[in-house]
Amino acid sequence: MKSLIDIIDISVEEIEELCSTACDIIAHPEKYREACKYKTLATLFFEPSTRTRLSFESAMLGLGGSVLGFSEASSSSASKGESVADTTKIVSGYADIIAMRHPREGAALVGACSALIPLINAGDGAHAHPTQTLTDLLTLYREKGRFSGLTVAFCGDLKYGRTVHSFIAALSRYENNHIILVSPEELAIPDYIKEEYLSRMSYEEVRDLEDALPRADVLYMTRIQRERFSDPEEYERLKNSYCLTAEKMTRAKETMSILHPLPRVNEISVAVDDDPRAAYFRQAYNGKFIRMALILKLLRENDGERFAVDTTNLTISETPCPNSKCISHNEQELPRYLTRDSHGNVRCLWCETIVTK
Ligand code: CP
Repeated sequence: MKSLIDIIDISVEEIEELCSTACDIIAHPEKYREACKYKTLATLFFEPSTRTRLSFESAMLGLGGSVLGFSEASSSSASKGESVADTTKIVSGYADIIAMRHPREGAALVGACSALIPLINAGDGAHAHPTQTLTDLLTLYREKGRFSGLTVAFCGDLKYGRTVHSFIAALSRYENNHIILVSPEELAIPDYIKEEYLSRMSYEEVRDLEDALPRADVLYMTRIQRERFSDPEEYERLKNSYCLTAEKMTRAKETMSILHPLPRVNEISVAVDDDPRAAYFRQAYNGKFIRMALILKLLRENDGERFAVDTTNLTISETPCPNSKCISHNEQELPRYLTRDSHGNVRCLWCETIVTK
């Protein structure tokens, strides 16, 4: 693995290897204290973050390495119009590995193609957030002991929720998982996630959380994300769609685990935090250790060869990507590459939006 853009870049064997390494780091942190001595991580965060950025930084420091970077676009030259491609090329001269978050979908892929060092996608718009998914998988591993045979309910913003998209993609690779999607119609899961991943599992869509609660082994709550809405009135209308309360938890299985990528606004009552089934703070803790395992793996496997996309079967679109949040609208002279997926849909290479069916 040269860079991590999407969870599907990692095989199931590699996921198990990463979870196993993370558990070993938790048990024996002293063994890893100098594992990345003289190595530097650059955290390029063009969008706010608490858990992802600080757990990446804590991970690298825990491995004996150093950290540099920025935590907002306004303190980088992006505010003067510098492209993502130029930024990651430049930073390649200052660091050994990059973790990058960006509000534009497909930005991580553009950055990785230009970087001379491994790049980890720390979230690109509403597209993907693979290290959150690794965190979620490690949490499943530690809470449930397995990745298969689970009924997983996803509740909240399933349209813009990149953590939901990446976690569903990961779960689709394991046997006998059943997915329950709980959202308002306006925030339903995108069609491309249905076609690409949910089609490999059994799934249902419901409007009420109460319908899902009694059956779920895992409840994955999400925040309604104000920053993803172009219409503020729609956000106001939908922001209080769901709230998990202690009273509602009486309907859930005694063994159910509640996950949430966090931050939380009001979708889980703080009264639920003391319930032993509330796994979301343990989940955030796990994030540091899976990121340590990932940094170790990428640095160990880096042979100096650059990450590149295979352009053999790509075509070029004559029109702009229909997704207004795609990175292709911002990067100078970025080819408008189109790719065809296994269902015959034509997609933008960068943001994966379906252009024609
Ligand atoms: N889960 C997550 O991505 O949190 P942050 O936005 O705080 O990094």
